[in-house]
Amino acid sequence: MINDIEKILYSEEELHAIVAKLGAEISKDYEGKNLLLVSILKGSVVFMADLMRAITVPCKIDFMCVSSYGAGSKSSGVVKIVKDLDINLSGYDVLIVEDILDSGRTLNYVKSILLGRNPNSIRICTLLDKPERRVVDLKADYFGMNVPDEFVVGYGLDYDEKYRNLPFIGILKREVYSE
Ligand code: IMP
Ligand code: MG
Repeated sequence: MINDIEKILYSEEELHAIVAKLGAEISKDYEGKNLLLVSILKGSVVFMADLMRAITVPCKIDFMCVSSYGAGSKSSGVVKIVKDLDINLSGYDVLIVEDILDSGRTLNYVKSILLGRNPNSIRICTLLDKPERRVVDLKADYFGMNVPDEFVVGYGLDYDEKYRNLPFIGILKREVYSE
């Protein structure tokens, strides 16, 4: 598995520091609010597990699984809800927790669906951002790090469902996905 990695971008220790900083910021902003963390499966699961423990204000959690329609690695922007939330969003300050913002199409769609459910507020927290890849007008309210336009894996992020269990984030060797 490790042989498929070109370069480590963020080590376990660096990720820990990034998540701690995000947790502190979120804890300050959501003091006295009715925070609900919404993790987008599966990519955000490792980030979610660490982030929720770095948040010191009361919060609830829920999970949503979406998949993009259409073939290939590009997201079409139309997503199918594979697993919906259990909690009714009315009255909650929703914070969407995502692994990486790329074109932004997926989250743009998810955000518009959730906005229609009458939450108090809705914001986005993404661990990684590839801002130069954006095709829709969407900004993360909280983000850990910008990454270059390379395919990254680990810490929940996958290629073909693999590498999610790597404890660090690394750039996948091109030969792995172009062969
Ligand atoms: P978007 O709709 O183009 O923003 O797609 C976002 C989704 O694409 C993320 O939730 C990831 O699942 C996936 N994705 C985008 N870039 C990468 C990457 O570098 N590594 C792994 N998954 C990625
Ligand atoms: Mg994903």
